[in-house]
Amino acid sequence: MGPTRRGFCAGLAALPLLRPAFGQGMRSLTAGKATVQLAPDAYPATPVWAYDGTLPGTVLRAPQGGRLERRLVNALDVPTSIHWHGIRIDNAMDGVAGLTQDAVPPGAGFDYAFDLPDAGTYWYHAHVNSTEQVARGLAGALIVDESAPPDIDRDEVLMIGDWLIDPDTGSFVDNFAAPMTLSHGGRTGNLVGVNGRHDFSLSAGRNERLRLRLINSANARIFGLRLEGLRGWTVALDGMPLAEPVPVTDMLVLAPAQRIDLIVDVTAEPGAAAGIGFADGDDGWGMLAAIEVTGHSATVARDRPAPLPPNPRMQIGGIEAAPVLDMPLQGGAMRGLKGARFDGQDMGWRELVRNGQFWALAGQVGLGTAPFATLSRGETARIRMANDTIFPHAMHLHGMHFRVRAPDGTLGPLRDTVLVMPNDMAEIVFVADNPGKWLLHCHMLGHAASGMTNWVMVA
Ligand code: C2O
Ligand code: CU
Repeated sequence: MGPTRRGFCAGLAALPLLRPAFGQGMRSLTAGKATVQLAPDAYPATPVWAYDGTLPGTVLRAPQGGRLERRLVNALDVPTSIHWHGIRIDNAMDGVAGLTQDAVPPGAGFDYAFDLPDAGTYWYHAHVNSTEQVARGLAGALIVDESAPPDIDRDEVLMIGDWLIDPDTGSFVDNFAAPMTLSHGGRTGNLVGVNGRHDFSLSAGRNERLRLRLINSANARIFGLRLEGLRGWTVALDGMPLAEPVPVTDMLVLAPAQRIDLIVDVTAEPGAAAGIGFADGDDGWGMLAAIEVTGHSATVARDRPAPLPPNPRMQIGGIEAAPVLDMPLQGGAMRGLKGARFDGQDMGWRELVRNGQFWALAGQVGLGTAPFATLSRGETARIRMANDTIFPHAMHLHGMHFRVRAPDGTLGPLRDTVLVMPNDMAEIVFVADNPGKWLLHCHMLGHAASGMTNWVMVA
């Protein structure tokens, strides 16, 4: 073979040989370093960690019932892994380093291949030292399409986040492990944005109907959102369709890792302000995603949208007979930790702080070798999370969706992440139908890193 290649352009000749060697048929998703202009143009660009060089990572899209296959290639100089947030996935593909797989070392790879049973809006992100890796940009949207798409004119993914950037250098502020950040509300940015832009905008015509898939990829920020110049309905939460579209009349709350699918009609006149506003602390309302109304797409508004088709296998039976497992949320500034165990050992508060630990779930600090609970496959589980801290927490269960059961027994919509406010509690109920080791943790990622991580075993 060798001599016949003489005269070929080396690059061209090498291509067909290289492809199977690298991909073996599986497409790659490379975690590596890049530079992105996150701040306004007058400021320096930001060195980021990103999938395939973009922040957020490319939107991965596949049909419901299909399969997603990606080889993670680690081009960073730290170990990493990918978690497919909200997917009812095979445990071995869940991407939790230290629980479901080993972290992928620099220069190595890991093949992720899994089925997609549910349609909806999901996301993927790093799950090694995520408080730093996600904040540096390792996150992207994962969209699973319904076989019969809803009647809309356009489908837009809006990955909402915030970035804490030093305006002089453009670099991320390296306070990922700062006790002050970890023990309080978590790391919030000084710039908010959508799809990697601080000035994100779309243009649309009056009466155009859009599906907006909002994903909160921020480390700790809870977004309060409102529609301006739009009429909208919530049609899905955390990927899962609501039985009926719910008109948006009030502020929408989007905690870290949560998703809201909206169907909106543009009601503003051409030239008028429209878009998604966010509650900007003391500054009132800011514009997060502007919609420039450029003309008329239709002369009359449409009727309320139809519900999205439900996802399979979602009945929860036997709730009243199921035992309630208590998992109080504990610790943090002003409360501290008393008598908490760090993987089976009693540890004084000072020693915990020295280890960078500030929080506990049911008296347990961080991921232990024993699960919080062992559930038999198919069992209905109830976990009651009372928030005994002075901070809100966004509690996320891997691998299975739950409903929040109100004290009067009514059940909320299917979700994978629930916001629990101080002095409040949330009881989650779910069918433990997915075997394996599943993380249950706060998605304020600094909290997760400093104690608020536990797991359940489904055997
Ligand atoms: Cu989106 Cu364990 O996380
Ligand atoms: Cu928390």
